[in-house]
Amino acid sequence: MAENKILKLHDNIQFIYELALARLELQSLNVDFEITNNLREFKLNFVDKIDLLKKSLAYFKSINGEFTDYHFIQQHNQTSSVNQYLTHWFYPYKGKFHPQMIRALINIIGVNPGETILDPFIGSGTTALECQLLGINCVGIDISPLCALISRVKTESLGALPEIEEAKDNFLMSVRPENGNLFQQGSLFSEKKSGDIKNKKVSNFFKLGEMIAHSDESRRGRDFQTSFISNINKMLASLRDYKEVKSRLGLELGEVDIRQGDARNLSVINNKVHGIITSPPYSIALNYVANDAHALTALGHNLDKIKEEFIGVRGAGFNKFELYNQDMDKAYRQMYSILEKGRYCVIVIGNVTFQSQEIDTTAKVVEQCESAGFALVKKIEKIIFGLYNIMQKEYILIFKKP
Ligand SMILES: C[S@@+](CC[C@H](N)C(=O)[O-])C[C@H]1O[C@@H](n2cnc3c(N)ncnc32)[C@H](O)[C@@H]1O
Repeated sequence: MAENKILKLHDNIQFIYELALARLELQSLNVDFEITNNLREFKLNFVDKIDLLKKSLAYFKSINGEFTDYHFIQQHNQTSSVNQYLTHWFYPYKGKFHPQMIRALINIIGVNPGETILDPFIGSGTTALECQLLGINCVGIDISPLCALISRVKTESLGALPEIEEAKDNFLMSVRPENGNLFQQGSLFSEKKSGDIKNKKVSNFFKLGEMIAHSDESRRGRDFQTSFISNINKMLASLRDYKEVKSRLGLELGEVDIRQGDARNLSVINNKVHGIITSPPYSIALNYVANDAHALTALGHNLDKIKEEFIGVRGAGFNKFELYNQDMDKAYRQMYSILEKGRYCVIVIGNVTFQSQEIDTTAKVVEQCESAGFALVKKIEKIIFGLYNIMQKEYILIFKKP
């Protein structure tokens, strides 16, 4: 007789969409289960694949008392926010994905280790890091040079940990009050300092530390140099966490390829991909250029010039919507052609309000993706409560390339 195994959900699971994704994770792994104990536990009716479940599941804390890998990973966190474990917290990027949801979606669309997932709007690199942890390769594209930097540093720095440790003292020693304000002398402090450092991963790491300090200063009024020092130390602690997680769980990390590029032209990717998980700009809801102006300027970019390439930012008034729709139409067609047949494309999107009118972005995405050739297979409503308990509604749309 088969022994029953009990799968327990993580304690912080509270939304219906999370339960829906937890069920889909098991269904896509062909697991026979029943939901018990007031929706908190799942009883496995047939016991096999336990190792696979333990290694990959996102929404479960334990299987018959044994912790899942994800539970162990989540414990390695230098911040007070449960989902900012390992390097996820590097740079406070607005509108990031919830990493646990991405891990679940990777399982749901059935991409295997060694295969490749594309995120053509990679933002702060959430998809890339979650793929890396599961041994899945990831190509991440973003028009923003800041996003390319953030996503690279989150996923490449572990490979240069000894060199970063070695360079650290040299960097931090020079950041002393008696040396004046090193960060306002027209060029990047970290760039000057790392001029003789050949390893790009090392210089990228310190450059991102400087960008986080820019953000701390402009958004939170913190002292730049103090913030730089404390961020570098905290970032290093996160890399040591990552090293420990990799070795304790015996992880084979996926390869990550981050490019600064345009989602409207994906012909730069040589091979077809085995899945797409992404969240494009929610229409014109957020101005990604203005939002990170401090860091983009520090990186030496002319905001007026680069803004022309950002979807949802170019144009003015109602013309912005027109341009947004044209741009996204191109992007969806590109995504369709780069995906292997029979595979899935997941798009996370929310509606937006413009001049007190709600714009149904989601219906437009479905229309555009269907016209590109995709078939909608699942639409999951994602209701979350944001700051001040304000309800935010987003949708997870799963399309298939027939
Ligand atoms: C909703 S955010 C993605 C956030 C991401 N999921 C994360 O976890 O951080 C959308 C991203 O689209 C990027 N973007 C805007 N126009 C683009 C374009 N033409 N090509 C590629 N990326 C673009 C923005 O820079 C922004 O990072």
